[in-house]
Amino acid sequence: MAGEDGGLYTAQERALVARLEADLKAQLAPKPCRLAHSLSVARTAEDLALTYGVDPLWARVAGILHDWDKVVAEDELVARARRLGVEMGVDLGLVRPLLHGIVAARELPARYPELPDEVWHAIAVHTTAAPEMSPLDEVLFVADGIEPLRPPAPGIEKTRALVGAAPLDDVFWSSFVGGIVYVLEEGRYLYPGSIDIYNALAAGRARTR
Ligand SMILES: [Fe+2]
Ligand SMILES: [Fe+2]
Repeated sequence: MAGEDGGLYTAQERALVARLEADLKAQLAPKPCRLAHSLSVARTAEDLALTYGVDPLWARVAGILHDWDKVVAEDELVARARRLGVEMGVDLGLVRPLLHGIVAARELPARYPELPDEVWHAIAVHTTAAPEMSPLDEVLFVADGIEPLRPPAPGIEKTRALVGAAPLDDVFWSSFVGGIVYVLEEGRYLYPGSIDIYNALAAGRARTR
């Protein structure tokens, strides 16, 4: 595993990763499966970053922290999002599962001011994606969808097969579209903003072809 490679990071960077992992273990102690998922996303994001020329440290860090607020009750998350003035274009009660990344990205910088904005942006958009996705945003989004603890499903297997064989934009696209298809097939509420994000991303892909 890349993370075991002592040469990848400086001693200071390794200490940062260890401190954030220890903090996450305390934060997610009531949810061991979510803790295992988060650490797995972090490793997967780090590997993807190394494959695609993205900063592995910030990928690892974003993975560690991305589900920090998954221990917060959804009603409490809605209340916090309202206090923070989060605007989703619909009642926040309809988009509860999307709020944990956005709230964490607004609140955690006060706890970790040493982390760069790009990490918080990746965490903010890990549930919804965004019309403009940076490579780090894409790495975290994909890692969240394909980390090895996720049971195999056709959409996930399709995305996993693209890693290393296709450009990062295409791997992300597969993961993003697979997520929307999943919502449709399950008959779940589709966040209307997802349609706008889909159209913006599709137009961007059409322009670059
Ligand atoms: Fe999440
Ligand atoms: Fe996650």
